[in-house]
Amino acid sequence: MADIVREVGTPLYLYSGPLVRSACARLERAFDSYPHTLHFAMKANSTLAILRLLRGLGAGADANSGGEIEAALRAGFEPSQIVFTGVGKTRDELDRAVALGVKAINIESDGEADRIDALARARGVKARVALRVNPDIDPNTHAHMSTGLRFNKFGVPIEFAAPLLRELARKPGLDPVGIHVHLGSQMLDVAPLARAARVLADLACEVRDAGVGLEHLDLGGGLGIAYDGTAHADPAAYAAAVLPAVRESGLHLLIEPGRFIVAPAGILVGRVADTKAYSGSPRFIVLDTGMTELIRPMLYEAFHRIVAVTPTEGPEERYEVVGPLCETSDTLGHDRPLGPVAVDDLIAVLDAGAYGFVMASNYNRRRMPAEVMVDEGGWRIIRRRQTYDDLFRNEE
Ligand code: LLP
Repeated sequence: MADIVREVGTPLYLYSGPLVRSACARLERAFDSYPHTLHFAMKANSTLAILRLLRGLGAGADANSGGEIEAALRAGFEPSQIVFTGVGKTRDELDRAVALGVKAINIESDGEADRIDALARARGVKARVALRVNPDIDPNTHAHMSTGLRFNKFGVPIEFAAPLLRELARKPGLDPVGIHVHLGSQMLDVAPLARAARVLADLACEVRDAGVGLEHLDLGGGLGIAYDGTAHADPAAYAAAVLPAVRESGLHLLIEPGRFIVAPAGILVGRVADTKAYSGSPRFIVLDTGMTELIRPMLYEAFHRIVAVTPTEGPEERYEVVGPLCETSDTLGHDRPLGPVAVDDLIAVLDAGAYGFVMASNYNRRRMPAEVMVDEGGWRIIRRRQTYDDLFRNEE
């Protein structure tokens, strides 16, 4: 770590190739007994080196925007390995997906279905589509990460799904190939996922009886990790919960994990820029990294373990671990026990590999951090730190 930081500086995202591989392997093993494909949710981390690693492991991609489709292509995924999801896809994004012939465009509404149909007919092709349903199932997670409840903006309410699927099958520009659901994220309880699988399987059987034959069920992502370091939600329990219903459908299964694969494989490394301890106020550790690099604690009150890279012997104190930004919410850790900490020490924020770099910003004219991959006995920079020239490139 000292070598890397000497060369690359801080703040810095550091990823472990072996941890990405082992998380992927655990999921693959859990679903081994049933035909399935893992489509990595690129929104969790779309750095090209990470995508290429996952492509090499046989994963497909779940893209959520034109930019993510572009990233998938640049990482070497074939269009037939990409599913395209998203509320509010623009006509340009849809046309690009139709032209490429992606594995499935996950449809969000009947209006979107009509737009895809028109675009496909104009190109003289049939677009492969899946219907994203909203099953009104509570994922038991943070409210900001729930997507499958009736009042969430995602998908078509379940009671409208069967007639809409029959209608899709009648449109000359559409080839309905699947049903999609994504209940939410950071789920530690697999029971809601089992309920969603049941709803999808029943719907597939219902429309099959009406003559609409599908290829796949797509259960989305959502499997959580233990940010506090306790035991994980288990891929085996996940598979055991969803496979009975999926098996009855006989359809190929897609899953779109993001966090489970990359969160534990990444850390954010910062340096202590200042410390303050005045009586009557909390003790503060001020880092050179904060909400511009990792916004999860501020946005979701998310907990990330924070550790000294080289702990110093001595009594523990409780600290507010804060960033350098002009925002009170810029707190990475509240009331955290740490041993003696001095300016220039390195601090690591754990489980930052998912929804970390991808949600970074240039607020306060800060430059996006560098990213490094540790793998095969060595390390390499996979994204250079932005330069000040990068910051001003698009301005007149
Ligand atoms: N598929 C779809 C359609 C999704 O919307 C998502 C995540 C996933 C798959 C992957 O879910 P995962 O396996 O990573 O839970 N920024 C938040 C998480 C937002 C998740 C959005 N959708 C966070 O930092 O926790």
